[in-house]
Amino acid sequence: MSYRFTTAFSLALVITLAGCSRETKTSDAPLVESPEEVEAVFSAPIETPLDRFTYSNYNDIRVTNADLTLDVNFDKKVIDGVAVLDFEYLNRDANVIVLDTNDLTIKSIEANSNGSWVTADYTLGEDEPVFGSRLEVALPEKAEQLRITYTTSPDAEGLQWLSADQTAGKKYPFLFSQNQPIFARTMVPLQDTPAVRMTYTATVTTPPELIALMSASQDEGPRDGEYSFSMPQPIPSYLLAITVGDLAFKPINDHIGVYAEAYIVDEAAAEFEDTPNMEEATAAFYGPYKWGRYDMLVLPPSFPFGGMENPRLSFLTPTLIAGDKSLTNVVAHELAHSWSGNLVTNANWSDAWLNEGFTSYVENRVMEALYGQGRAVMERALDLESLKRAVSEAERPELTQLKLPNDLNHPDDAFSNVAYVKGMFFLKFLETRFGRNDFDAFLKEYFEHFAFQSIVTEDFLAYFEDHLWGNAPDAMTKEEIIEWVYGQGLPGTIEAPVSDAFAQVAVHQSQWLAGEKSANDIPTAGWTTHEWLHFINSLPDDLSQANFSELDTAFSLSTSQNAEIAFAWYMQSIKGGYAPAMAPLDDFLMRVGRGKFIYRLYQALIDAGQREWAAEVFARARSGYHPIAQRRIDTIFAEAE
Ligand code: BES
Ligand code: ZN
Repeated sequence: MSYRFTTAFSLALVITLAGCSRETKTSDAPLVESPEEVEAVFSAPIETPLDRFTYSNYNDIRVTNADLTLDVNFDKKVIDGVAVLDFEYLNRDANVIVLDTNDLTIKSIEANSNGSWVTADYTLGEDEPVFGSRLEVALPEKAEQLRITYTTSPDAEGLQWLSADQTAGKKYPFLFSQNQPIFARTMVPLQDTPAVRMTYTATVTTPPELIALMSASQDEGPRDGEYSFSMPQPIPSYLLAITVGDLAFKPINDHIGVYAEAYIVDEAAAEFEDTPNMEEATAAFYGPYKWGRYDMLVLPPSFPFGGMENPRLSFLTPTLIAGDKSLTNVVAHELAHSWSGNLVTNANWSDAWLNEGFTSYVENRVMEALYGQGRAVMERALDLESLKRAVSEAERPELTQLKLPNDLNHPDDAFSNVAYVKGMFFLKFLETRFGRNDFDAFLKEYFEHFAFQSIVTEDFLAYFEDHLWGNAPDAMTKEEIIEWVYGQGLPGTIEAPVSDAFAQVAVHQSQWLAGEKSANDIPTAGWTTHEWLHFINSLPDDLSQANFSELDTAFSLSTSQNAEIAFAWYMQSIKGGYAPAMAPLDDFLMRVGRGKFIYRLYQALIDAGQREWAAEVFARARSGYHPIAQRRIDTIFAEAE
């Protein structure tokens, strides 16, 4: 059989096949069986289904640039905005432009037609819970610009307004955005889909004591409450970002630095001092960094993610600052998005693995380059543990596919460990089959070829076939790739990482559990955070209270200052009913708003019969959480009713 094929992949067919497989096959069975079925997957034209999470008619008209004037009003917790959108026609007959909005109050819309601004008619649709409101604007003949004057809502899901009290400095309020996946529309009316890329400029007005930052280059000037930005490279809307606060800056080198509240900026710069080496390593593998500066912004602890890859300015949780650089893989990850995600972007949220799986792979390669095999293997091993959990907990078996079906309820459903970790292991599989040199060269070309484009899985597969697989057709079979990309669960060809360090941890753990040594005799002095995480995560379900307490006395796990270790310990403590951890857990839930931790902690509390306790903590903590986290945890409680 020959593996050369000139045409590409049929999404519709694959989805049909995946759909058929649901009732009849397990993840161990091949997704498609007959040679004809396999051939069919590889021989139809590429289809890019429309992003179903946007109202916009982006295949008729495309926004190419946004010029924003944003007045940040902390008293009212709103941004008063003027957005001038430039667009081009893909369909010359189009006479309306449809935009996404969510909780925006539209004050006026004008269109520029033949050089003069005229009032445009528009209709703003019903407010739908996930999508927001459809904004349809009637376009005068040949209009190529719109000017929309609007105000955001104090409840905008993408914006968190912190009072001075909720900051460390306690003197000034703070604002930050989180626009991925579909919250840019709560900040600006636009085509809120990763299928569309635009450049932007912005002028931001703030109280004079504060500074504003955006995912863009900043014009130099004094701290006077007026700031100008420009993002000359086209980006998808989810990468539009803003923050306003009393921020200090510390450079790490001539084009990398850290912004944070003053109390933490030195610690942050020390924790992230290896970032220049990360940039060098990534660029050596995959080609030059294309975005100019790379700064990091350490947000207040309510930031709902570990990190967010806003171009030129990654947003980071302060929980990464452990004091020993043990959690800086998140920096490697956000930086890696400067290639995978920000250069080459999923056109559809069902292809999110193209962003997150590639990024997790690059992240792990960079960690290996900087800190060695041992650490990279431990990180992969921990990741595989979480992938197994994600697969076993998936609400629908289709959600364990890399290429997801097009009928997700919310784009959030695309961001499980499947996209991240199964995606990474798929690329590891390819690396092993084709050899590191060839695979690296291929990825570098891929990032270059699709730079500043939005693509789907099948675009990647077709390029892969033409530029790598076609040259070494015996390296793998079509069935293997179909199983990885369209199949459910864990593929048979996944390569489980083997960590010698973790094997040692396991030996000590079992000796301790068997009563052969005390906790104090476990040689933990040289353990890294990763070894601790493995030790804690692999504790048996029936750990006795005496065992819990012995560990806690020996290692003060309940009050660990390392957020990952504390989180892992609280998860075990909740499951095992270890009461002394509850007060420190309460404190943690009040202090930290990072979704990765708090969603699972609340869920675990409910599952362990601690609903009332959890609800009481949530009632106190809720107003400090980001709106995204508030919504997610509201849902966790509602679904547990
Ligand atoms: N792009 C994501 C964050 C994100 C995902 C925001 C989905 C909104 C929707 C970011 O790059 C990310 O993946 N962050 C991870 C860290 C990473 C090391 C796994 C996180 O926040 O934990
Ligand atoms: Zn990511």
